Amino acid sequence: MENTHNFFMPKTNLIGVGSIKDLPNELLSWKLSKALIVTDKNMISFGWVEQVEKILKNLFIFYDIFDGVLHSNPTVSFVEDGLAYFPQELELRREYGLIISIGGGTNHDCAKGIAAVAANGGSIIDYEGYNKITKPAIPHIAINTSYSASEVTMFAIIKDESRKVKMSIASPNITPFISVNDPMFAVTMPERVTAASGIDVLGHAIESYVSTEASPISDSLALGAVKLVFDYLKRTYENGHDLEAREQMMFASVMAGMAFNNAGLGYSHALGHQLGGFYNQLHGDYEGILLPYVFEFNSPAVPEHKMLKLAAVMGVKANSKPEAMEKIADLFKKLAADIDIPDGLKKMGVQESDFDTLAQNALKDIAGLTNPRKGTLEDMINIYKAAM
Ligand SMILES: [Fe+2]
Repeated sequence: MENTHNFFMPKTNLIGVGSIKDLPNELLSWKLSKALIVTDKNMISFGWVEQVEKILKNLFIFYDIFDGVLHSNPTVSFVEDGLAYFPQELELRREYGLIISIGGGTNHDCAKGIAAVAANGGSIIDYEGYNKITKPAIPHIAINTSYSASEVTMFAIIKDESRKVKMSIASPNITPFISVNDPMFAVTMPERVTAASGIDVLGHAIESYVSTEASPISDSLALGAVKLVFDYLKRTYENGHDLEAREQMMFASVMAGMAFNNAGLGYSHALGHQLGGFYNQLHGDYEGILLPYVFEFNSPAVPEHKMLKLAAVMGVKANSKPEAMEKIADLFKKLAADIDIPDGLKKMGVQESDFDTLAQNALKDIAGLTNPRKGTLEDMINIYKAAM
């Protein structure tokens, strides 16, 4: 019986208050001459980029700063703007021995795109799908300020504006080499981003837990993440300077990220990505709205023992699978309401007339490949309708 569950994650993961101080030790043996920082103007104004610049200067590593990540949905054009820092000739592009992204998932995804194309040539559009990136990308360190988990995954979600499609690009070759999750860098995360990227952690954990590729490793990470999200997300939303809550949410994000990096995601992400491709709002808001409806759709394919285990982690008492399913979906909705996630897609400007195109794009999204229950176009449209 062949049934492989290989496990991928960054080589080193620095986590906890003050963990940025351990980064120089990691860089010492690299003998780097030049790095490219990929970030946005907010990260510069918060002073986070300056902190990394100090580390590079102390190690005599030259660097350039690309701060052209202009909004929260990374696009093909952002990747191309970053690539303009590299020489045209592929063989000269290794002059940057390292790419360092500072920020949330948008910045890390953009950096993954730049690192992949700089080493492989062509355009980022050529690499849409699973495992299309054949050569290792330029080594990448992701210094994280949100709960996207991109800093620990092999996924990059890049919007192709010409098609209004969010491309899912997945390859072990774009997994960052080192991730840094220092909660000090997260205190400036705005309330709205805290809520959206926090509820997205729950989506990552739940989708990997019910995935067709789930394993005992991903299950334990996912369940651990669910517990931390229910214990700490509301606290970190209410007080962004609560470092203990920030730190625990970073653990939740990393755990859920490692779970979905290996077990995959599901329809909540396939459907949510495509809303982002059309309407450009925060990814996590779409996830917070869609998750309970996708969970209900998937429940016939979730084994009873897994449903009851999930309920127990969430502190829900249930004697049967249908009872557990209903109570879990209600708790998802309650948590989303507690942190002011919009209570329907209509409030986010979604138009019913777009459902057909959105659903067709969602069925092509690789995030849906590991969903436990196969859906038709009509099923996808019905989930969108229920979430309106
Ligand atoms: Fe997500």
